[in-house]
Amino acid sequence: MKSTTKQPPTLVVLLLAITFALSLLPTATPADADPSDSRALSALKAALPGRWNTSASNACQWQGVVCNAQGRVIELHLPGVGLIGRIPNNVLGNLSSLNFLSLRYNALSGNIPSDFSSLSQLRYLYLQNNNLSGDIPAVLFSMKNLFRLDLSGNRFSGGIPLGFNNLTNLATLYLQSNQLTGSIPDLKIGNLKQFNVSHNLLTGSIPSQFCGMPSTAFEGNSLTACAATAPSANPNDSGGGGGDGGEKKKKKLSAGAIAAIVIGCVIALLVILLLIFFCCCRKKKKTEQQPGTSAKSGGGVDKTLVFFGNGPRVFDLDDLLRASAEVLGKGNYGTTYKASLDNGVAVAVKRLKDVTVSEKEFREKLEEIGRLEHENLVGLRAYHCSANEKLLVYDYFPMGSLSALLHGNRGGGRTPLNWETRSAIALGAARGITYVHSQNPTASHGNIKSSNILLTNSYEARVSDSGLAQLASPSATPNRVAGYRAPEITDARRVSQKADVYSFGIFLLELLTGKAPTHALLNEEGVDLPRWVQSVVREEWAAEVFDMELLRYQNVEEEMVKLLQLAIDCCAQYPDSRPSMDDVTSRIEEICQSTLTSGQDPLADIISDPENTPSKPS
Ligand SMILES: *[C@@H]1O[C@H](CO)[C@@H](O)[C@H](O)[C@H]1NC(C)=O
Ligand SMILES: *[C@@H]1O[C@H](CO)[C@@H](O)[C@H](O)[C@H]1NC(C)=O
Ligand SMILES: *[C@@H]1O[C@H](CO)[C@@H](O)[C@H](O)[C@H]1NC(C)=O
Ligand SMILES: *[C@@H]1O[C@H](CO)[C@@H](O)[C@H](O)[C@H]1NC(C)=O
Ligand SMILES: *[C@@H]1O[C@H](CO)[C@@H](O)[C@H](O)[C@H]1NC(C)=O
Ligand SMILES: *[C@@H]1O[C@H](CO)[C@@H](O)[C@H](O)[C@H]1NC(C)=O
Repeated sequence: MKSTTKQPPTLVVLLLAITFALSLLPTATPADADPSDSRALSALKAALPGRWNTSASNACQWQGVVCNAQGRVIELHLPGVGLIGRIPNNVLGNLSSLNFLSLRYNALSGNIPSDFSSLSQLRYLYLQNNNLSGDIPAVLFSMKNLFRLDLSGNRFSGGIPLGFNNLTNLATLYLQSNQLTGSIPDLKIGNLKQFNVSHNLLTGSIPSQFCGMPSTAFEGNSLTACAATAPSANPNDSGGGGGDGGEKKKKKLSAGAIAAIVIGCVIALLVILLLIFFCCCRKKKKTEQQPGTSAKSGGGVDKTLVFFGNGPRVFDLDDLLRASAEVLGKGNYGTTYKASLDNGVAVAVKRLKDVTVSEKEFREKLEEIGRLEHENLVGLRAYHCSANEKLLVYDYFPMGSLSALLHGNRGGGRTPLNWETRSAIALGAARGITYVHSQNPTASHGNIKSSNILLTNSYEARVSDSGLAQLASPSATPNRVAGYRAPEITDARRVSQKADVYSFGIFLLELLTGKAPTHALLNEEGVDLPRWVQSVVREEWAAEVFDMELLRYQNVEEEMVKLLQLAIDCCAQYPDSRPSMDDVTSRIEEICQSTLTSGQDPLADIISDPENTPSKPS
């Protein structure tokens, strides 16, 4: 036994070394470009010089070029590199293995050449924000694999061709901000998820299959409002639509009816809730006299509400139940309401469902959570616990969560967030979580995501919902949390600090890319946010990955790239490879130091011009 113990370690080391070397191999020596593809790329460079860096001798190493193992070009990313002129004929069509082509934000004019018909593998075609003109060319309709097509922000004219119906895989069709005329044809593309024809010269009515889409997709035209009632007004709905799932056969409810039903349901729900609250309250007063086991923290024990901290106790459970309530959101562990008390104070009340621990454990855990006090945490002010009702009372933040701000899911649309604000939010959130982890080696937050990062009126981050993961089992929405959950976590209650670091990394990626981990683009492609970011070559991060709003801040590109790298480190597959939250905080402090100490009011330059700000001293 003993003699053999020497062998394995060296073997393991050897194997590790080989694996490591092998993993380095492909990036160290990419295949030489296929001669024909190489000629095509050179011809493109000659026709459209721009600021495209082609200094490497192997064309596969040119800026924005991605080759496969055979040296065939499969991706070409040249966004915003100042390409001026017409796309040359018989050049790009020769890159017949091309899967991804991005030439957005250049100054290309003319039309799309007909040799694009050879690009039968092409799935992504991004040509937005150029100066392309003429009719939308029929050559597009022979590219049967197109999945995303963005022609927005050009000068395309003429009608929208019915030929788009040939592109059965198309999920995105962006045609906004062109000069398209005529009416929207009867497009029946089964896969279409994103569609925008706003700011053209379109007339007529919006076909009924588009009625569910946001009105902003059609604004800036002379279109008549969506004919939502058309099916009932027109008895001739014989369903001649063909193979696209016959979704027109069922009568659609009008938008008004849907709104009425939704409002009705919400009101009914609130009434029921209030009734439940009142009933429980009555029962409690009669039956539940023993005030629970906890009396240790600074919290005095009210009959029904247990308070924390030294803040004024300006309400009791009755006040809370009498307050007018508004649903703020439904989370994995319950619904949160805004309760406006009679005295003008508003608090956030979370009603937990599916609590899986005993009442004793629940109270102990809440005492623990209630003791947490940090400027970047949302303080738990009080809780109520009875057999059938568990309520948590938090401070209320009218600005809502970062998720609402980033993705505009509270009706108001997106709020622009500048780089200073985003880096301050990243740092604040990191400090809050680091504080939670500093309590003891097993303390963890358990549910880090952008909707749990609330913001004060001055855009400071406050982390909420700490520790709830250990109390309740999340309702059956695994894919909603899956985007943030570390791969090793199979039971949501068994969280760890390293799993928090993973979730925080996803949150950082979301903050930088503006894409939620559940973004349709990612889900349809079956990749998660970290893999999507890593699929884009590092040199292209600036142009392809960052949130559009951040592209204006070119003088801080290096900081953004470093923060993105940190986010990727946090999302390492193996928990042991991830940094600790403490390291994460120090690295953010280091990376964003110059931004955050520049003394700028984070709100001041939300619409400032980065070109005018002096660049950093180097
Ligand atoms: C593209 O391919 C065609 C036909 O094979 C060839 O004649 C042409 O020279 C190629 N173009 C470039 C730029 O290599
Ligand atoms: C062009 O790319 C090479 C690497 O391929 C890099 O070393 C060089 O600095 C780049 N040149 C410019 C002007 O960015
Ligand atoms: C776009 O093309 C038109 C002609 O089609 C030209 O008049 C205009 O100056 C171009 N705009 C830009 C920004 O290049
Ligand atoms: C659409 O596809 C059909 C059959 O594949 C083809 O005959 C037709 O020409 C295509 N239409 C366009 C506009 O390319
Ligand atoms: C459509 O495009 C316009 C202009 O870019 C944009 O303001 C709007 O939000 C877009 N709407 C949708 C649903 O994509
Ligand atoms: C219904 O269809 C018939 C012929 O198929 C047509 O004459 C009539 O105008 C149609 N009615 C409407 C409301 O479209």
